[in-house]
Amino acid sequence: MSDTALDIQQIHKTYKSGFTALENVNLSIRAGEIFALLGPNGAGKTTLISIICGIVNASSGRVLVGGFDSRSSYREARQRVGLVPQELSLSMFESVWATVRFSRGLYGKAPNDAYLESLLKSLSLWDKKDSRIMALSGGMKRRVLIAKALAHEPEILFLDEPTAGVDVALRQDMWAMIRGLKARGVTIILTTHYIDEAEDMADRIGVINEGKIMLVEDKHSLMQKLGRRQLILTLPEPRDRLPDSLADLDLSLEEGGMQLVYQFDSQSEGSGIRTLLRRLDEVGVEFRDLHTEQSSLEDIFVSLIGGAK
Ligand SMILES: Nc1ncnc2c1ncn2[C@@H]1O[C@H](COP(=O)(O)OP(=O)(O)O)[C@@H](O)[C@H]1O
Ligand SMILES: [Mg+2]
Repeated sequence: MSDTALDIQQIHKTYKSGFTALENVNLSIRAGEIFALLGPNGAGKTTLISIICGIVNASSGRVLVGGFDSRSSYREARQRVGLVPQELSLSMFESVWATVRFSRGLYGKAPNDAYLESLLKSLSLWDKKDSRIMALSGGMKRRVLIAKALAHEPEILFLDEPTAGVDVALRQDMWAMIRGLKARGVTIILTTHYIDEAEDMADRIGVINEGKIMLVEDKHSLMQKLGRRQLILTLPEPRDRLPDSLADLDLSLEEGGMQLVYQFDSQSEGSGIRTLLRRLDEVGVEFRDLHTEQSSLEDIFVSLIGGAK
């Protein structure tokens, strides 16, 4: 297989209602990466995933999964992907074991009970294998969805909002499991509107808004490029206001007048700080301590989405 796990070419989707959910989406996913597709509710994340997994038809464009066209080579493409859907979709009367076994069979894979056993064990579901789905807690049902998606050993796993409404402990377990899958070479694409998750987990981040991909970047370079930095000066005593002669600088008083916060671009870091310190010295503003902070992905995201409207 090539380095490209998934190739999305000029996907356009207009629903029957006439609503255009995706416009000219181009995206290439590398084998083995964790890719986070980040966007607000209604951005088109689920629509895009559904098209890739063959659940929804695109109006135009095409998707290649491991080189196979998701339409003309549906079976080959489909068996390479596993989907953990946003909504719970399980037969409540089936047992956990029957659910995963059936799912594996759906994709034409030969039975492999040893694999399914290790899968259920890795998701802490082995002791529940004979329980009916309806007897499980919400967290367990989520894990069954993951087991179901992995039952046929897909190369690419989609997780659509995997932690929406999930408690903190389960979230942690989920991330540990996802990292484990990545270590085994599974390509992972997750959608989320929780920015901190993308920040923690992803190798690359795509931002989607109103059906358009706004950017695709390596996480670290994204943070560096777009991340504004702040210099925070702690003052010896609170101030009501700043000298008027500093009005041209991007400065604000925060924490009840105890902190002076200066915004500057990463690129012009050196000169920016030096200028500030010289100007403060000129007007006799003293400080006790200083440190810098990098803006979070959240700040970046808000500025991107905000700018689009
Ligand atoms: N079957 C459908 N018919 C018409 N509009 C739809 C349908 N499914 C989704 N949409 C609309 O498409 C947009 C994108 O939805 P979706 O892909 O679910 O977004 P996300 O997963 O990012 O929240 C939304 O405005 C949604 O209302
Ligand atoms: Mg969605």
